[in-house]
Amino acid sequence: MLLDASMPGPRNDLDAWWMPFTANRAFKQAPRMLAGAEGMHYRSADGRRILDGIAGLWCCNAGHNRAPITAAIRDQAGRLDYAPPFQFGHAGAFALASRLGALAPADLDNVFFCNSGSEAADTALKIALAYRHTRGEGGRTRFVGRERGYHGVGFGGIAVGGLANNRKVFGPGLPGVDHLPHTYDRARQAFTKGEPDWGAHLADDLERIVALHDASTLCAVIVEPMAGSTGVLPPPKGYLQRLRALCDRHGLLLIFDEVITGFGRLGHAFAAERYGVVPDMITFAKGVTSGTVPLGGVIVRKDIYATLMQGPAEAVELFHGYTYSGHPLACAAGLATLDLYRDEGLFERARALEPVFAEAVMSLRAIPEVLDIRTVGLAAGIDLAPLQGGGSRAYAAMVAAFRDQDLVLRAAGDTIALSPPLIASEAELADLAERTARGIRAVGEKI
Ligand SMILES: Cc1ncc(COP(=O)(O)O)c(C=O)c1O
Repeated sequence: MLLDASMPGPRNDLDAWWMPFTANRAFKQAPRMLAGAEGMHYRSADGRRILDGIAGLWCCNAGHNRAPITAAIRDQAGRLDYAPPFQFGHAGAFALASRLGALAPADLDNVFFCNSGSEAADTALKIALAYRHTRGEGGRTRFVGRERGYHGVGFGGIAVGGLANNRKVFGPGLPGVDHLPHTYDRARQAFTKGEPDWGAHLADDLERIVALHDASTLCAVIVEPMAGSTGVLPPPKGYLQRLRALCDRHGLLLIFDEVITGFGRLGHAFAAERYGVVPDMITFAKGVTSGTVPLGGVIVRKDIYATLMQGPAEAVELFHGYTYSGHPLACAAGLATLDLYRDEGLFERARALEPVFAEAVMSLRAIPEVLDIRTVGLAAGIDLAPLQGGGSRAYAAMVAAFRDQDLVLRAAGDTIALSPPLIASEAELADLAERTARGIRAVGEKI
């Protein structure tokens, strides 16, 4: 049922919820309310069937309200609603950790659970520090992130992240952080499908940071294999391999934040597999439960786990964790989701659809306001010229697309991001591109 945002008075039903990363006042004037979902579509509160162009928020990779997942959640809720993860366990958490370890590359075998991507990023940074401490390398406390990186909204994540809006009003944050340059250069990369040819050398900036601080003070490097939230920046060819080699040379841990790239978005379980690069830790969230129940975590190399398993057996090895780490409902959802990905071959499906999707989205190049398009896997970033006189055309297109094209898009600054569920048909991908084009064309300069 649609809440009535037009009710008179200083308060209405929409006032109370302070919405995250949302223009609250504009939204509450003209709300975009969702009431149901199935497969590739939402149902809006006013009864329209809305195409989901962004898999929820990069998370509903198996599509919406998939019966095996919702049944597993329901069943779990009726059997074991909650189990404390501190000093107690339940079978689902161990089973899911084993499955994730098997899915991750090489010897990334041990899994620490949390509830979100932000918590996963902060957990990974803390594990890295604890690892250094245990190895007698307590001086290695500095982190290296990357410009335009997004690692959630915790203090650790915003410190290593590289988006000014997420940092500028929140104080000095974590000390001892440097940033690699981002990997985007429109002049050299515009309208590239997949990984651009130019830019691998940008990884070498790590040498500058090592020269500045000395490797003996550096703990870990954290990057998204494909920078998603900033507007889809696929890694230049060879970039991640170069970063891995430099980390090895200087003894730095390499953390891949795979909160977006995990679970099929780039046609593989993890981007690490696509690029043939083995990081020391992988953070994940979102797609692990296809967005149904909050769950995140960090998968670490065996050696990192083994290093921390020291001291008396009765002693807590890592003073870190969350009340809802390995929550039974989340683990049940995760296990059912991984089954579905496997049974329906959804990672392979994304891989097979990648060229079809790229072709469909690149057709928007003909629109004069489109300045660049990047595609990789089932993800695309479409850069738009800002509105004359200021304002984001991408935001205006998102508003118009929902209102007039029955489409959910994501606007990030001047970029439209697309990341459809991996169950999309070729026709639905074409339809997504066409509706997006109409949404952009509808904006004009009016809004
Ligand atoms: C790479 C990456 N890390 C972390 C996060 C934060 O995840 P959450 O919103 O679940 O905290 C995101 C969210 O988009 C992300 O893309």
